Amino acid sequence: MYILEVDKLVKRYGGLAAVNGVSFKVKRGEILALIGPNGAGKTTCFNMIAGATPPTEGAVMFNGKDVTGRKPYDLNAHGMARTFQVVKPLANLTVFDNLMVACLSKSRNITEARGKARAVMLRTRLDALEHRQAGLLSIGNLKRLEVARALATEPELLLMDEPMGGLTPPEVDQAIELIRDINAQGVSIVLIEHIMKAVTAVSSSIVVLQNGEVICTGEPAAVMNDERVIKAYLGDGYVASR
Ligand SMILES: Nc1ncnc2c1ncn2[C@@H]1O[C@H](COP(=O)(O)OP(=O)(O)O)[C@@H](O)[C@H]1O
Ligand SMILES: [Mg+2]
Repeated sequence: MYILEVDKLVKRYGGLAAVNGVSFKVKRGEILALIGPNGAGKTTCFNMIAGATPPTEGAVMFNGKDVTGRKPYDLNAHGMARTFQVVKPLANLTVFDNLMVACLSKSRNITEARGKARAVMLRTRLDALEHRQAGLLSIGNLKRLEVARALATEPELLLMDEPMGGLTPPEVDQAIELIRDINAQGVSIVLIEHIMKAVTAVSSSIVVLQNGEVICTGEPAAVMNDERVIKAYLGDGYVASR
């Protein structure tokens, strides 16, 4: 039933607890949003879940198995992928070649990787940019390529770290559509995002972090009306604009 279970995760850097006892569960097939102010510990949670850094304490269960401390390539091979807040394309390669490289891990040969790369390119609507050098793309297209590269590894669970940061309003709408589309094809998603319109449009549950701790969990409507969440994150301006 749960694709991901995060149990009392703690990450300390020296005296600072960047994450301090965070627990939440992601149901198979759902989109869960992880929100909170800058510095709340959202990216650090992703780093521990995806194996970029081991937790100081706590456990990560993926598909019912304890995967705490496993390496990113190992988790990726078993169906977990992530996108980075600061995108990481292979800047000198074309859009197509970036996707092909990402497809190699799940392909038996180059021909198969090429076919898969083409499918991902079409699915993410990057085909018009096939021959463009990745390093020269706009931020909107870079963010889309970042998602496409993660999809190329055929994940069951996709962790997305602020995929809409820096996008124009029409690009945000396209990103919402892409996320829905990916989810509709059976991929469970954890989404870190500041754009509340997008968060409420796609997520079925929300976890709110502040100072490394969960201050609220629940369905979007309830979370958005929670006094602590309004005070810590959304602000009075948000309340006024409702
Ligand atoms: N590698 C690190 N070393 C020391 N402190 C870190 C490191 N990574 C994150 N932090 C600190 O942990 C806190 C949470 O950071 P982060 O997880 O990036 O927050 P968010 O993604 O919610 O903005 C911040 O105070 C940040 O400075
Ligand atoms: Mg972050």
